[in-house]
Amino acid sequence: MVLDPGHHRPAAPPAAPPAAGLQRLLELAQRLDTRGPRYTSYPTVPVWRDLDPRALGSALGAVTQAARPVAIYVHLPFCAIRCLYCGCNSFITHSEGRIERYARALETEVDRVADALGGAVPHSVLHLGGGTPTHLPPALLAPLLDQLLRRFPVQGGGAADGLAPGVERSVEVDPRACTDEHLELFAARGFRRISIGVQDVDEAVQQAVRRIQPMSMLRDFVRRARSAGFTAVNIDLIYGLPRQTPETWRASLAAVLDLDPDRLACFGYAHLPERIAHQRAIDAETLPGPDTRIEMLLEAQRFLCEHGYEAVGMDHFAKSDDELSRARRDGRLWRNFMGYTPHRKLELLGLGCSAISELREVFAQNESAPEKYNEMLAAGRSPVVRGHLLDADDRYRKALINDLMCNLEIRPDVVAAAEGLPVPDAVARALEGLAPFANEGMLERTRDGWRVTSLGQLFLRNIAMPFDRYLPEQGGTNFSRTV
Ligand SMILES: C[S@@+](CC[C@H](N)C(=O)[O-])C[C@H]1O[C@@H](n2cnc3c(N)ncnc32)[C@H](O)[C@@H]1O
Ligand code: SF4
Repeated sequence: MVLDPGHHRPAAPPAAPPAAGLQRLLELAQRLDTRGPRYTSYPTVPVWRDLDPRALGSALGAVTQAARPVAIYVHLPFCAIRCLYCGCNSFITHSEGRIERYARALETEVDRVADALGGAVPHSVLHLGGGTPTHLPPALLAPLLDQLLRRFPVQGGGAADGLAPGVERSVEVDPRACTDEHLELFAARGFRRISIGVQDVDEAVQQAVRRIQPMSMLRDFVRRARSAGFTAVNIDLIYGLPRQTPETWRASLAAVLDLDPDRLACFGYAHLPERIAHQRAIDAETLPGPDTRIEMLLEAQRFLCEHGYEAVGMDHFAKSDDELSRARRDGRLWRNFMGYTPHRKLELLGLGCSAISELREVFAQNESAPEKYNEMLAAGRSPVVRGHLLDADDRYRKALINDLMCNLEIRPDVVAAAEGLPVPDAVARALEGLAPFANEGMLERTRDGWRVTSLGQLFLRNIAMPFDRYLPEQGGTNFSRTV
């Protein structure tokens, strides 16, 4: 029998903020202040190289054989205005022709991938991300969605009314660019979860990042989304933005809770002006320092946990009765490129420019620039430009790191049993390197290995780094701050 790490849970991992005093946390953060990967994937993207598209072809063959529903991510990269902090693969345009050419190329990719899968693979998750998906006019979005639902039908029908059980369809929206027509179009096709980019509601912060969306607009937008039929609301916030202070952040958290979101993401602002040109317009002097960033993250944990939310993984929060909180309590939370999920081992197909497919034995990423992506499809070529074939050691470490980032446990033997793989020797050595974290009170022993304490939860990326086989060769990579 294949064991699932979730079957071994003696107790739920911490969901509350650490009790350690702020001074001690700051001192630890200063000592551990290092840059490192976010581990949304392992091996991480900088390790990936050219990938023979045939590798993806044979991985798709395995998906067809498994005959299980897949998760589909569709990347819609265009936006109307640039937010200065933006780290997404997004392109500003007002050219209808440019947007339409991209939508056509995407339809070609949908057909090709569905054909490669024998046209018979259903979906259980469909997520549209960006960029700003609603920068596509309804006249282009509707046929694209209809094609997706036709080529990846849900099992037993139900795609038309969108109410098939066990299927989740969600979309990321910029409230400044989403009309009632968009909302109705999504709702009619079974989209029930909406993910709203809020970032911060403080006026000075919004001006500093050039994204103005007053609270009254947000309130009205959430009301419109709910009345159109969206039953689940996610909100994205960012801490570490210019002009934020612990006081403004606290007020923003309180205001955002008024919108009654089911889930909240609090991302640490990744400021990488050497790589992302428009971030250079942000005055570095106005960015909160590392101490203030930690104070804000702790404040989010404290405030949200006091108001009926639980911390899920590193930077997400969900209402206590949300499916993600339940999965976290049961130790069966998982993560893929789209974020946290209660579904382990879901194969993910990424469609569109820069989209990533995450299959059991391969990661594959499409060309990032929309026009190049269009050309590749028009020429009958695969848009895949890079990726990574996972060997047994990669698969083992990926599962171990995922279990750590999601379930806050390091369970070498349980993961080995679940993956049907032996514990690699090098991982056994890395385990010995955990002693300093245990000495600081970030880890405590369990029957199966180690559990992360609420203090350690703040340093998850640091705790994962010793298990990364590729990190020593990545000295030159410019990662974001771990906290
Ligand atoms: C892929 S973006 C698209 C969201 C959508 N376009 C919007 O802005 O409303 C998803 C989220 O990534 C986060 N994000 C974007 N740039 C970031 C950065 N530099 N550092 C941290 N988080 C960032 C934001 O919270 C954003 O809502
Ligand atoms: S709307 Fe979203 S994707 Fe577009 S620039 Fe702003 S943060 Fe980036």
